[in-house]
Amino acid sequence: MFNITDTKNLPLSKLLSELHQTCDAITMGEDDSIANMANISAIIWQMLPDLNWAGFYRMVGDELVLGPFQGKAACIRIPLHKGVCGKAARDMQTQIVDDVHAFDGHIACDADSRSELVVPIIKNGKIVGVLDLDSPLPSRFNAEIADAMEKLITHISDRL
Ligand code: SME
Repeated sequence: MFNITDTKNLPLSKLLSELHQTCDAITMGEDDSIANMANISAIIWQMLPDLNWAGFYRMVGDELVLGPFQGKAACIRIPLHKGVCGKAARDMQTQIVDDVHAFDGHIACDADSRSELVVPIIKNGKIVGVLDLDSPLPSRFNAEIADAMEKLITHISDRL
């Protein structure tokens, strides 16, 4: 249905702009948030190398609940006082964790994870979920990737 660009030899800035365009195109005109989260997880998983988990948690009541993702089965419920996801949701701020073992309270869903990026999804000033990316490599995520993911999530937040 959609052609996903082979990103193997692309410079990071080009890869991130291709990823943005693909996620924008595939969610355009679709307001089912679960379907959109499923496709975005799949696209990020396919286009961004060195990930072992890519997906969403949604705010349900006062906790984060597992949403669509790619990777190994993960913990289902995360209270806001726990984990990198909880911190991103509580503070409504992106978290870049270079070494998950050094993050107090990190929740290890997959023992292979070494670094993590969590971007909050904010609608009308309220937290509605998070995008969570994990990597088996330390320091996988830098400010350029975090910035691109924030821009993507902000751009499509009405579709999530
Ligand atoms: N590591 C996360 C939990 C979710 S999994 O990585 C999929 C955290 O500390 O919040």
